[in-house]
Amino acid sequence: MTHSGRDNWGSRIGFVLAAAGSAVGLGNLWKFPYLTWDNNGGAFVLVYLLAVVIIGLPLMMSEILVGRSTQLSPVPAFTKLGGRRWSGVGWLGVASGAVIQSYYMVIAGWSLRSFVQCLGWSIKGYVTPADGDFDAFLSNGSLQIGLTLLFTLFTAIIVYRGIGGGIEKATKVLMPALLAILLYLVFTTFTMEGRNEALAKIFIPDFSKLPREGFLEAVGQAFFSLSLGLGAMIAYGSYLGKKESIFKSALWVVVLDTIVALLCCIAMFTIIYSVPGLQNRISGSTIGMLFITLPDLFYTKMPGGILLGPLFFVLVAFAALSSTISLGEVTTSLLIDQKGWRRSHATLATTSVVFIGSILAALSLGASGILSSFSLFEGKEGVLSTLDHLAANWMLPTGGFLITLFVGWKLGRKFCMDELGLEKPNLAFTVWLWIVRVVAPAAVLILLINVIMGKDFS
Ligand code: PFF
Repeated sequence: MTHSGRDNWGSRIGFVLAAAGSAVGLGNLWKFPYLTWDNNGGAFVLVYLLAVVIIGLPLMMSEILVGRSTQLSPVPAFTKLGGRRWSGVGWLGVASGAVIQSYYMVIAGWSLRSFVQCLGWSIKGYVTPADGDFDAFLSNGSLQIGLTLLFTLFTAIIVYRGIGGGIEKATKVLMPALLAILLYLVFTTFTMEGRNEALAKIFIPDFSKLPREGFLEAVGQAFFSLSLGLGAMIAYGSYLGKKESIFKSALWVVVLDTIVALLCCIAMFTIIYSVPGLQNRISGSTIGMLFITLPDLFYTKMPGGILLGPLFFVLVAFAALSSTISLGEVTTSLLIDQKGWRRSHATLATTSVVFIGSILAALSLGASGILSSFSLFEGKEGVLSTLDHLAANWMLPTGGFLITLFVGWKLGRKFCMDELGLEKPNLAFTVWLWIVRVVAPAAVLILLINVIMGKDFS
């Protein structure tokens, strides 16, 4: 595909919102709060924030740079710049995208159930769900598959139609709406008594409470939440105009994504510490925290909650959709760019393959004994948790490690300076380059080696 034949984002803000749409998703709303809870708070958050600054931002710039300079999707982009040997990095990204997409669709489906549930409560009145209600929902195999299928179809339709005007237009409205509701949510929770306990839990680090795997999970979460390590930002960056600043675009995405994750975590922890009995309801399945904690707030404490409840879960679904679209685009554009397939055929093929993975993930939440007890990693039971751990904590960091080496050493100083629009290297550029060349890959490598060797960090 050539430069002249491709769409561009209408403006930097268009790119920023679409890229932020990819970044902001279930990772922020669902995964960050529950991982923070599981890893005992503060220290996990601090490692996460360090990973965002030291690895996330420089890597985001690197991916956008590769995409924009080639105007190609990941596999052909690496092939063009680095020859066939480097195309493997693109393939790893595509595999990561397919793995994430397969289980992400299942969680995204939960937002549809919460929407319908909230709508029912808004019309008929709120009934506090029984303990174990969410677990019963998880074990309902046909419902899990049905919701997943619905979400898969929504995604496929948009990917099939191409990302151009659609995504850009939708995210321009939806992202600010999501942010506004989130702010209102945090504002409301700030009047609740659990606020101080929540803030202390999130912001006061205690490294003795961070499990060893927690380091890897924090770094993995930074990759996952920022959509890094698999080439999604290469694909989106390939549509960015040559005049836009890569640094500013990347910074915006990183800041927005991090703010949303923290706000959501603050809101959920405050509710948990304020509502009696809620801890019991989430204790069995922290994985469903988002879907358990917030309805309580909407229907018992929040002015206007009756309206905001259903609306919030619509926005969660949209946040998830803007992420699944970017994942779908990575896998689908491969078949289009690399194999010359028509978009319709490519979408159908990738959607079908991914859906098989989704079925396995959907049945691994209790419906099927074998799939639910399947385990490759200690403490991660079931296909869904295993795929999530594999992709976020191993595949994405490995992809990110290779991408930073590629940009730092293979493309090198001159290439990067040209693409960043610099005539002479300045201090900021030099710092960035050495982070990309040494600091970021070394941090990821040391972490992976330590976890593999089972070294105890605490
Ligand atoms: N960043 C998304 C989230 O936080 O929900 C998940 C994701 C989307 C990961 C796209 C990777 C990706 F390419």
